[in-house]
Amino acid sequence: MCGIVGYIGHREAYPIVIKGLKRLEYRGYDSAGVMIYDGDAIKLCKTKGKVVDLEERASKEITTNGTIGIGHTRWATHGVPNDVNSHPHLSNSGDLVIIHNGIIENYAPLKVELIKRGYVFHSDTDTEVLVNLIEEVQKNENIKLGKAVQIALNQVVGAYAIAVFDKKNPNEIVAARLGSPLAIGIGEGEYFIASDASPFIEYTSNAVYLEDGEMAVIRLHKKMKVRKIKDDSLVDPYIQELQMNLEQIEKGGYDHFMLKEIYEQPSVIKDTYRGRLHANEGIIQMAGVEDNLEKFLNADRIIIVACGTSWHAGLVAEYIFEEFARISVEVEYASEFRYRNPIINSNDVVIAISQSGETADTMAAIKLAKENGAFVFGVCNVVGSSISRETHAGAYTHAGPEIGVASTKAFTTQITVLTMIALRLAKAKGTLSLSDFHMYLQELELIPEKVREALETNDRAKEIAATFKDAPNCLYLGRGYNFPVALEGALKLKEISYIHAEGYPAAEMKHGPIALIDEQMPVVVIAPKQGHYDKIVSNIQEIKSRSGRIIAVVTKGDTQVRELADYVIEIPETSDALSPLITTIPLQLLSYHIAVMRECNVDQPRNLAKSVTVE
Ligand code: F6R
Repeated sequence: MCGIVGYIGHREAYPIVIKGLKRLEYRGYDSAGVMIYDGDAIKLCKTKGKVVDLEERASKEITTNGTIGIGHTRWATHGVPNDVNSHPHLSNSGDLVIIHNGIIENYAPLKVELIKRGYVFHSDTDTEVLVNLIEEVQKNENIKLGKAVQIALNQVVGAYAIAVFDKKNPNEIVAARLGSPLAIGIGEGEYFIASDASPFIEYTSNAVYLEDGEMAVIRLHKKMKVRKIKDDSLVDPYIQELQMNLEQIEKGGYDHFMLKEIYEQPSVIKDTYRGRLHANEGIIQMAGVEDNLEKFLNADRIIIVACGTSWHAGLVAEYIFEEFARISVEVEYASEFRYRNPIINSNDVVIAISQSGETADTMAAIKLAKENGAFVFGVCNVVGSSISRETHAGAYTHAGPEIGVASTKAFTTQITVLTMIALRLAKAKGTLSLSDFHMYLQELELIPEKVREALETNDRAKEIAATFKDAPNCLYLGRGYNFPVALEGALKLKEISYIHAEGYPAAEMKHGPIALIDEQMPVVVIAPKQGHYDKIVSNIQEIKSRSGRIIAVVTKGDTQVRELADYVIEIPETSDALSPLITTIPLQLLSYHIAVMRECNVDQPRNLAKSVTVE
């Protein structure tokens, strides 16, 4: 979490840093700060609040057009969000300035030692410890910043992406990463540093993504030097050509990124299967799967590790893999998996799902699986992300940047990728009849159009939202493939509107949650025609008899549920297995409108951040 930005070059640094911070605000937004070097002195401004609050304050405090600067937008870990704990942090001498994304786990003993040596701390952060540790090393050894950073980092335990500036040698910035992402944009006589490439895409399309354990000394008018922090060996950095464009990271006329991303789903699902799915020829081809087909086919089981919405996509995949490819699947919260003593064999295939490709728990689960000899396959959205690099092979979802903190298009594109993998394996194993295989391919190809149709439920979702926006609780029920959709619907509602919501398998109702039902309780039931329709109709009857208020997502033309439900939302028909791709759409819209009506910050819900790089 936290976003960091840095600039060194010939342009005015302040606007670049501020704009960059705004683009990185999805990573954290409880406080923000900026440092600009004016050629003589360090100008620092920081505040609790969002980047707009910083901007307001900085308009009075930062009056320089200096060409070197760093900035930070924070998601608090050590120390509450306030002005003092905001980054950048200064060293005791006032010469060194640091921004940091991550956690220094051994900050406490280091702090005690530094206090013994006379250092004074103003904030509660681990970052202030790090900058003073660097200063102490630099002072003792009388060395340049790069070397001091390296020595200091070899003493810390934890995760970091940092940028450090030294007033005594103001023509350079030192950046380093371990466990938190860091990209360096390379322009003509200028460098950009950022947590992802979005702050600098309009300036350069050349970027180096530092690997874990690497640091870069970035000097004006000099070639950047990258080396390993541990052994000092020089690295020849790989310069990537960026695929992102400006349009992708702007709102494009929508009020919120979340709404834009919901509406992008027809086109991004198409992008996900483009070149991979050839329905007419009966072919599914994904390089990462083809190259490792034997591993998948010989697997005793598939273990899926993920968090949050990605975990929900994993649950849908469990149903699909087991039904299509007859492979046993276990779906694990990465955060639980890594801390128990899971049984992992070299014949297991582990699939790690992550939109950001940076989630710390998922990353740790991957490392554990690799240590135990499993083959690890990544399903990530962010190209070049840590998880995509850590896994043995993988498939990108190609959903484009997802900026709204609540995940929407990532979910449907993850399911699309996982469905294609299951279909490919089913074909190789002969576990689906040829006619079913072809039917699913054709159906998958029609999904973007059906999602487009499902988006037409927007007005209906808005109407229903107006009725239920003040409900304190809400239940979501689904069965089979749509049980994970119920979980996802509930997560979307709670995270952006702060209404308590729970998802349940509909048949589990009678084992407890039914006690909650009364005339105040809205119950969203996902009841498409296919699957366990009759059973879910019975569940709806049970809610009705207890005066619950039913909002049902039904297949177009449905009459039976319509008679029982208070409100229905009609969606186009598709096969049971692919239905999550459609049923989830009105639930996303419902949560969105409820959150807007409750005047919640849809794109930046409280306490959350997009990329969870802490444990
Ligand atoms: C919910 C949401 C989170 C993420 C979770 C995993 O809307 O966005 O639950 O799904 O933090 O993130 P990734 O997929 O980036 O690993």
